[in-house]
Amino acid sequence: MAQGADRSILVTGGAGFIGSHTVVALAAAGFRPVIIDDFSNSQQRVLDGLRDILGYDVPCYVQDCNDRAILPGLFQRENICGVIHFAAFKAVGESMEEPLRYYRNNLGSLMTLLEVMLETGVSDLIFSSSCTVYGEPETLPVAETAPVQPAASVYGNTKQICEEMLRDTAAAGKPLRCIALRYFNPVGAHPTAKIGELPLGTPNNLVPYITQTAAGIRPQMTIFGDDYPTPDGTCIRDFIHVMDLAEAHVAALRALQQLGADAHSHYDVLNAGTGRGHSVLELVRLFGEASGQRLNYRIGPRRAGDITAVYADVSKIQSQLGWSARRSLREALEDAWRWEEHLKQ
Ligand code: UFG
Repeated sequence: MAQGADRSILVTGGAGFIGSHTVVALAAAGFRPVIIDDFSNSQQRVLDGLRDILGYDVPCYVQDCNDRAILPGLFQRENICGVIHFAAFKAVGESMEEPLRYYRNNLGSLMTLLEVMLETGVSDLIFSSSCTVYGEPETLPVAETAPVQPAASVYGNTKQICEEMLRDTAAAGKPLRCIALRYFNPVGAHPTAKIGELPLGTPNNLVPYITQTAAGIRPQMTIFGDDYPTPDGTCIRDFIHVMDLAEAHVAALRALQQLGADAHSHYDVLNAGTGRGHSVLELVRLFGEASGQRLNYRIGPRRAGDITAVYADVSKIQSQLGWSARRSLREALEDAWRWEEHLKQ
């Protein structure tokens, strides 16, 4: 249980998919989450869902975390002692069409936040990074020591540059203690179905597309390519239950707090995945079993920019944080389906 002054954690993008689940995990661990979110990719219903789960209103600032003027006051008023920074644009395709908007938002918000953290003496930061930094890995499972590949998208590049910004700030001896978590593919929803993924418009990601098809919102889903050099020809990913991923943030935060007052500057990157790879076709079949729904799908051409296979080497996060994913993919798909059904109500 977190104690007194170590409790209030600013969660930027806390009304988003991973952010909202992390708010629940933080509260369960005794922290006091405070959200800042501009609701550009979220809805009021997330806050309602959080209230239903937690039994109280989570403090929420409806603001852009690029807004330098408001942050110092917020830090002071809410007694913030650590930050989890989710707020970012994340659509790969859109990032190629609107590069400057992505660079300004994703790099600008981290720079602003870092400046305010250094100014106000808040040192502990968990940053949302992505397995996209590995590109197509040469060896699997992929470890943190694998080379970072040239980014395939502007979105991916913003994650790489943010990692460098954090690394360089800590290397300069600034009072920053940061863990960047490289997420694999988060799926699922909270088991109560009170919060889950809320894609804007047509989903880009696999599981929301599947659940919307099963719910009749989309007539059919397409598996993008079955001619990859994998056992069943479809791509392989490391699908992690969003609540497991949320709990990884809490474990990372605790690890930073346990560094003690002597540890002034710290930067590390950790893979946040399950360590297991599942193919797209396996996931589609497992969804059918988990939901009892017949999914209308077809095999289509490959999607530009997709990599063949990626899944995490999780030995570093297990040994450093004592954390590992404990929910099954089937459970994640059951939760995702329950959430989709809840949305209809
Ligand atoms: N897929 C389909 N049909 C769909 C949607 C996806 O077959 O309708 C396939 C994709 O081709 C891919 C797999 O399902 O093989 C997973 O696709 P997602 O879009 O769900 O996830 P990605 O692995 O492409 O994306 C993830 C993160 C991004 C990150 C990206 C970088 O969601 O944030 O990895 O590779 F940028």
